[in-house]
Amino acid sequence: MSNPITCRERFLRACRCEPNDRPPIWMMRQAGRSLPEYRKLKEGYRFTELVQNPELAAEVTLQPIRRFGYDAAVIFSDILVVAEAMGQNYELLDQGGVRMDFELNSQADVDKLDASNVMDHIAYTPEAIKLVRKELGTEHAIIGFAGSPWTLASFMIEGGSSRENTRSRAMLYSEPALCRQLLEKITEATITYLKAQIAAGADVVQIFDSQGGTLASGLFWEVSGQWMKQIVDAINGEVPTIVFARNVHHNWDKVIKTGANVQGIDWSIDLRETADRLPSNVAVQGNLDPALLNASPEAAAAETRRLLDSMRGRSGFIFNLGHGVPPDADIAAIEAIAQTVQSA
Ligand code: CP3
Repeated sequence: MSNPITCRERFLRACRCEPNDRPPIWMMRQAGRSLPEYRKLKEGYRFTELVQNPELAAEVTLQPIRRFGYDAAVIFSDILVVAEAMGQNYELLDQGGVRMDFELNSQADVDKLDASNVMDHIAYTPEAIKLVRKELGTEHAIIGFAGSPWTLASFMIEGGSSRENTRSRAMLYSEPALCRQLLEKITEATITYLKAQIAAGADVVQIFDSQGGTLASGLFWEVSGQWMKQIVDAINGEVPTIVFARNVHHNWDKVIKTGANVQGIDWSIDLRETADRLPSNVAVQGNLDPALLNASPEAAAAETRRLLDSMRGRSGFIFNLGHGVPPDADIAAIEAIAQTVQSA
């Protein structure tokens, strides 16, 4: 019998669109509030304390790997650490959502942000990656990540979570030069940060453009796509790249133009149909409806099977949710999904 491939190799094969024994699986926001062991650890610490302490961040990263045996571990951190590194701190609110310590309003606010020394502030994430690597060896892949410049800019301008990004989207029209300066600074900081994660051992990096779909269709490339392309270009094939741009279905050509190896697809469209429209050397990741994590394990397993069947014969497929794990997800449903993929 030939040796079974490692989870890490399975994951990398999928990123490179090579033939595989089965699709690899991980879940966005897999290390979070749904796990009792995370909630227990968090009784003693604030969210930012967990993120900023490499030992604790490594422990939270490993929790879902131990429990579910996912092929890849996504490093426990947050997209907002890049704002912190430039001089705008954040906190998590007890009632949900995040708050930045000020809103970006003016040229002076943007001038204050410093993109040139980010690793003096957020070296804790690469440090956590090194600890996770020590624990996992080369058995599992490690995913590093950052927010897209636009997604992060929207949090920074709004001063926290926002439903419609009304202020940040208005600023794109009223202060285009200022917005460009901000996006440039975030891009520079993000390149430095992702390169540090790669140097520390990240096998793959993902850019989260969760707010990409809030933009008017004609603005997507200028405000979001082109900056993600700059980041992908700077990584220059050192490791595979994943872009998850949510709700951008009218702009696939532009999302492809970022040059990412893998496209994350949200759950609102058919994965196979979308995959068949993309170039065959672009891998896809997705796209189970996260609501199934609050449904019965039987329903979750059945939909997982349906998705796996629909993707049969498409190489370059990473099984994931169509967005993040909901905070109140049912562990039994997560288990049913993981086992269904792992026995495929
Ligand atoms: O996937 C993982 O397990 C890795 C860690 C990760 C977190 N955030 C940890 C986290 C990742 C990849 C993120 C990305 C992130 N953070 C995004 C993009 C992806 C997405 O889901 O759209 C965004 C927009 C953020 C910003 C952010 N962080 C928000 C809006 C919130 C609050 C959410 C809420 O419901 O209150 C966070 C907090 C956060 N980041 C949690 C986790 C595990 C919740 C922590 C807790 O309550 O203890």
